[in-house]
Amino acid sequence: LKPIKVGLLGFGVVGGGTYSVLTRNAEEIARRAGRDIEVVRVATRTPSKAKAVFGEALPVDDDLMGLVSDPEIDIVVELIGGETLARELVMQAIANGKHVVTANKALLAMHGNEIFAAASKKGVMVAFEAAVAGGVPIVKAIREGLTANRIQWVAGIINGTTNFILSEMRQRGLPFETVLSEAQRLGYAEADPTFDVEGIDAAHKLTLLASLAFGIRIQFDKAYVEGITALKQEDISHAERLGYRIKLLGIAKRRPNGIELRVHPTLVPATKLIANVEGAMNAVLVKGDAIGETLYYGAGAGAEPTASAVVADLVDVTRMHTSDPENRVPHLAFQPNALADFDI
Ligand code: HSE
Repeated sequence: LKPIKVGLLGFGVVGGGTYSVLTRNAEEIARRAGRDIEVVRVATRTPSKAKAVFGEALPVDDDLMGLVSDPEIDIVVELIGGETLARELVMQAIANGKHVVTANKALLAMHGNEIFAAASKKGVMVAFEAAVAGGVPIVKAIREGLTANRIQWVAGIINGTTNFILSEMRQRGLPFETVLSEAQRLGYAEADPTFDVEGIDAAHKLTLLASLAFGIRIQFDKAYVEGITALKQEDISHAERLGYRIKLLGIAKRRPNGIELRVHPTLVPATKLIANVEGAMNAVLVKGDAIGETLYYGAGAGAEPTASAVVADLVDVTRMHTSDPENRVPHLAFQPNALADFDI
């Protein structure tokens, strides 16, 4: 089989990580995907920066719109972040019949219903494992591993930056601002860190998880959102003295009249596993009626952990793209809102 041709939109922390993982593990990845996965084009606003790190051979330019219309490309990987330009590019890629892999939770939380509908109509896939909990395969776990279950609730630490801040404040007594700068330096934080510290990024992800778990439309505006900016060092140490840890949790729960969605700092007994998730790690608990409670844990942010999820989606999409279209698992398998619709 001919290689599948990939175009990367954006070459920041995750874009660079994706390129590195694809290059380093090319042989193994090709075996699993059934053919080579080749990055034929990269588009970024700063091509010279990308070349400086990855060498002159990198096929990079700054024509983002050109990439999504490039007839050579089968899969567009959207890693530029933000909502406006990303939406335009993703919608155009779909219109051009390309599959899309994205790590952009803000985009999907705000425009996912429109994007998935367009993809479904066009018969292309939009895969987004990297959009929730970085490298932790929680999308695949809910969509595939737990698919037999009626999910009762999902609760977790789904923002690495705030968990890193809370951990460092508790363990080392460091001030909020110092730790936030460190999270930015390590590539955990969003371009606008307000999204992290005000709980918005966690709410974006929670909205996507709820859609997958409960088969509802993506409804970010229905979530209650509170971040960690009002927390003081004393709150953390008082909680500790009482035998608790403060964690920013995202919670989606089935209620008699719909699904409850909330993100807020929560007192968690220090004896619980999830209370001991430190640094930029993420952990998501899912309770299903058949399996009971399950826990998914791993790196929730950073270059290669997030790339791990991007590449997993590339392999998935490659397998689907390669299979006989007549027998292909319907695109709905990739949609979060593929089940019966009910409101929050
Ligand atoms: N800013 C996000 C976080 C990146 O800290 O979790 C991963 O989505």
